[in-house]
Formats: sequence, structure tokens, C-alpha cells
Amino acid sequence: MGDESKRTGLEAIKYQRGKLQVLDQLRLPHEFVYDDVETCEESFDCIKAMRVRGAPAIAIVAALALAVELDHKKDGATSTEDLVKYIDKRLDYLMGSRPTAVDLSNAIKLLKKISQNAAHISPSADQSTACADVRLAYIEGAEKILEDDLTTNLAIGRYGAEYLRSLQKPHSVPIDETDELRYFTTSPPGTQGLPDQAYRKLSVLTHCNTGSLATSGHGTALGIIRSLHKMNYLDHAFCTETRPYNQGSRLTAFELVYEEIPSTLITDSMAGALFARRKTEKNIAAVIVGADRVARNGDTANKIGTYSLAILAKEHGIKFIVAAPTTSIDIETETGADIKIEDRVGTELTQISGAVVGKDGTVDVGNTARVAIADQRIGVWNPAFDVTPAKYIDAIITEKGEVLRYKDMFNFMDIMPEKFK
Ligand code: MRU
Repeated sequence: MGDESKRTGLEAIKYQRGKLQVLDQLRLPHEFVYDDVETCEESFDCIKAMRVRGAPAIAIVAALALAVELDHKKDGATSTEDLVKYIDKRLDYLMGSRPTAVDLSNAIKLLKKISQNAAHISPSADQSTACADVRLAYIEGAEKILEDDLTTNLAIGRYGAEYLRSLQKPHSVPIDETDELRYFTTSPPGTQGLPDQAYRKLSVLTHCNTGSLATSGHGTALGIIRSLHKMNYLDHAFCTETRPYNQGSRLTAFELVYEEIPSTLITDSMAGALFARRKTEKNIAAVIVGADRVARNGDTANKIGTYSLAILAKEHGIKFIVAAPTTSIDIETETGADIKIEDRVGTELTQISGAVVGKDGTVDVGNTARVAIADQRIGVWNPAFDVTPAKYIDAIITEKGEVLRYKDMFNFMDIMPEKFK
């Protein structure tokens, strides 16, 4: 679907009109299995169980599941009035799957509007033809969300890489051979006019999974890392395990290995130690994360643990960057205090899934097990996200370019003026 030439890396979502398949991310990195999603109920379950996750991917799978239903005429509607009611009801149902990411509610608002407009403007007096017009308008609207997401992510990747690059001052000092990994010996792209200067390559840390698996392709924060790597600006990427549900170790580590990006996995609790060594060894220039919802002032809800990383980054003088499509910016929510945070079941902390490792160290990929890792009677608090106050964020990279903080606020007026009318 869409411009295949732009598609890079793993595909979380496979779609052709009338057929939607979703990669079961709970089985990664051991098994690579696509499930057919033919109804909104299947889509709801898939999102709730986190077989697909990540703010953009959730919105896309919800939107496309209803597109498949409509393509198969499951609505059974005989009038546009009934059809629009059906569409609204199905979208309201999907809205209940996961509450924090704003992409889903933005997609739902857009698709409701598209369907209502199509019902009003269909030129046909014949209700069967008018219903076909409304179905087609919805389906094309949902497909456009899928296509636009990829274009958006490629732009975020490029802007993010260029922004981070612009922070790296040229070094006119001779290159230390022992440090050759961290410095260019020849000019990187775009700096050929400065042959005598060496430029620092960047090492970055990311949290959770914001890559191809969380989107229609390329990714947001991980998309920037991908772009940095392609542009030869990247030294090394670190990813956190991302407890409790391990999107970092299960998914981001998998994507980094798959893309052959130089990378290292750490536990969430190692970030401080890593940052503390930045001057001597690791040279982390930035933490780059995604977003589930960015409030009007820039406060950002993202995977639990993001807030702690932001404070650690500030303490160590490391840039803290949020990569988010404008569909994740919610100007109707004033501050992070107004963002609803999803609470998830305690077994995500007290149990873990994995493939069985044999005595010789080989992973038996087909042999997976769920294992208890805590006393099952312990009380558990499991918020899926936290909110990072805007004052800790240096820049928000969108498909329209970077938005920088002024005092403790971000102003999105310049990149999305229409939303402020
Ligand atoms: O619970 P998840 O895995 O859906 O959480 C995902 C995140 O927090 C991502 O950082 C965010 O959705 C952005 S994905 C491009």
C-alpha cells in the first residue's frame, strides 16, 4: 500500500484494500507471525493486548479495521444515515481500546468528519450508491492515514538528524586515533566545504519502541536514529530495556540488530551510570524519545520511565529530544496534568514471556513460556506512561521541523496555526 519505494525496515502493518494483517509484537523477537484483522473487535483486542502498540500504529490499525469491515459491507446499512451511525459507533468502540495516545482520537475525529461530509455531498439519490460513496470516502481516509504516517516519519527522521547534527560543533583539533570511532576522518555529507575539520559523530539513547514496529514504517525517535545512521552521523545507539513490558529489549533491540545499527541494550536503571560516563567513554549527546500525547504547553506523555530519563539528561547536560508527528500534539489539553494515563494489569510486572534457552545457550524460538518473576500475591502499580514536563525537553521534532522551548513552554502556533483558530 502507498509508496513502497519509501518503505524501509520491518512492517508492523500489512494492508491492501479489504485485507489487514498485523504483526504480533508479543511474539517478537522469537516468532514472526502476522494475524488477520477483519473486524473492529479483533482490532480492539489486538491493541488492548499490545500485539500492536505505539501511538501511530494503534491509530492506523483501528482506522483500517473499520475500513476492512466497510469494504466487506459488514455494516449492512441501506441508508447513509444508518451507515454514518454505524461508523460513529464502531469508532467510539475502538476509542476505548487504549486511552493515552492522542493519535487514535485524532484519527477517529477525522474519519467521522470524512464520513459525515461524504454522506452530505454524495450526489446520488439512490441510497445504495450513496452508501458506496460514503464507504469509499472512509476507506480512502483511513488509507491516507497509513500513507501519511510514513511520509511524516521520514521527514521527522531527516529534521531530527539535521537538528542533532547542528548541535555538534566542528572540531578543528587533530583527531585522536584512539577515539577514531567517535570522529569523522573525512567530511560527512553536507560539510565538504570544511575539509580540515573533524565532526563528532553522535551517540544517543532511546527508550521504548518508536520504530517501524510502532508506526507505518521508519519510526519517529528510532526513525531519527535510523536517519542519523544512514547519513553517517551516528556513532552508537543505546536502548533501554523499558520495563515492565520490555518494548526496548523485545522490539527496539530487534529493530537495531535487524538494521545493523551499532547498538547496545541497557536496563532502565543503568541510564544514570551511562550518562555519568559520557565525558570519558560513551559520549551520549542526546536522549531521543517518542510521544503518546503532547499537551499544548509541551508537557509530554510517553512510556513510563521517560520522565526519569529527562531529569537524568538535564543533570548531565544531555539534550532531551521528543520526536512526535503533529498528530500526537493535542492543543486542546492545556498541560500534562490533564492527560489520562492508562493503568495496566499487574501481571506485566510479576510475569514475563520468553523463548526457552537450551543448556548450550541456543534459543528454542518455537518454545515460548510465561514465567512468574515475583510473588504473585504482591500488590502492583503499573502505569503505562508518565508525563515529562516541558521544562526538561529541549526540542520537539515534528514532520514540519523542530519546535524549540522558550522559557518553560513550547509554542505550536507556527507549525499548526489552523488548530489555534
Ligand atoms: O505502550 P506502548 O508500547 O504503546 O508505548 C509506546 C510509546 O510510549 C511510544 O514512545 C509512543 O507511542 C510513540 S511511538 C512512535
